[in-house]
Amino acid sequence: MIDANTDLYALIGDPVEKSLSPAIHNYCFKATKENSAYVAHTITVDNLEIALKGFATIGYKGLNVTIPHKVNVMSYLDEIDAYADKIGAVNTIKIESGKLKGYNTDGLGLLFSLEQHQFDVKDKKVLVLGAGGAARGIAMTLGLAGAKSIFIKNRTMKKAVELKDDLISALPDTIVEIIGNGRLVEDYDLIINTTSLGMYPYIHTRQLDIQFIKGKTILYDIVYKPHMTKFLKEGLENGHQVIYGIEMLIYQALVSEEIWFDKKMDKVQMGEALSTFLEELI
Ligand code: ATR
Repeated sequence: MIDANTDLYALIGDPVEKSLSPAIHNYCFKATKENSAYVAHTITVDNLEIALKGFATIGYKGLNVTIPHKVNVMSYLDEIDAYADKIGAVNTIKIESGKLKGYNTDGLGLLFSLEQHQFDVKDKKVLVLGAGGAARGIAMTLGLAGAKSIFIKNRTMKKAVELKDDLISALPDTIVEIIGNGRLVEDYDLIINTTSLGMYPYIHTRQLDIQFIKGKTILYDIVYKPHMTKFLKEGLENGHQVIYGIEMLIYQALVSEEIWFDKKMDKVQMGEALSTFLEELI
């Protein structure tokens, strides 16, 4: 029950109406008996700074940050965790005594999901499909976790080049290359789709013809609606191990909760419960 002692949390972004974050966090608050509530606020770029001051003043305990604020929010925080600083984006804010500290749990959620599939990124060869905001966070995360080489494939070459240049300066020990269709046949350890291809309502699209992929490549799609994207369906049909986008969504949320409440959660168990719960909503 919401009462005078309920702690408040929110997602801020634009748009936020379709987000599953309120459902996920309120489910967890109930399950862990936290007297907390989570809502979503549409905040425009122009209002971001004043809104953050407002959340701190009112006494919100934490925020999640989504498009289009994950990078620009960093200018308005009192402190940024070293890992989020390296990634160059913040998706979680903890507010204590009116001070805002930024974290990045997208990356940590991704790594946790890979760990659950016994995949250690260290020394691996990965192909990132896309070069937008999500691709940037994911490529940086994989590079920081020790990937040997990162290949980028994107429709717009200019964006691929910008991402490549940024990765090379941040990750001097990682091989970073852009590929066209010609090099899809290489035996990547992991291919991760960060584009919106395959996402509802464009469910019949995908970035890559699976038949070109050889070897024991694991396929990961960060699209979670639909659960089974065309990319993953074809991957399964061709004998690849696949990882569903819902895992990253759930684990980034659970890592945010660990930060807000300063406690470890059984993320696997809670993740399973959440996944069943979300099946009905997606
Ligand atoms: P996000 O923050 O979710 O990554 P974004 O920054 O807009 O969103 O990036 C979207 C990604 O999906 C980009 O890599 C984009 O390719 P472009 O850089 O060429 O725009 C990719 N994408 C979106 N629609 C696409 C389409 N129809 N075909 C190929 N790539 C597409």
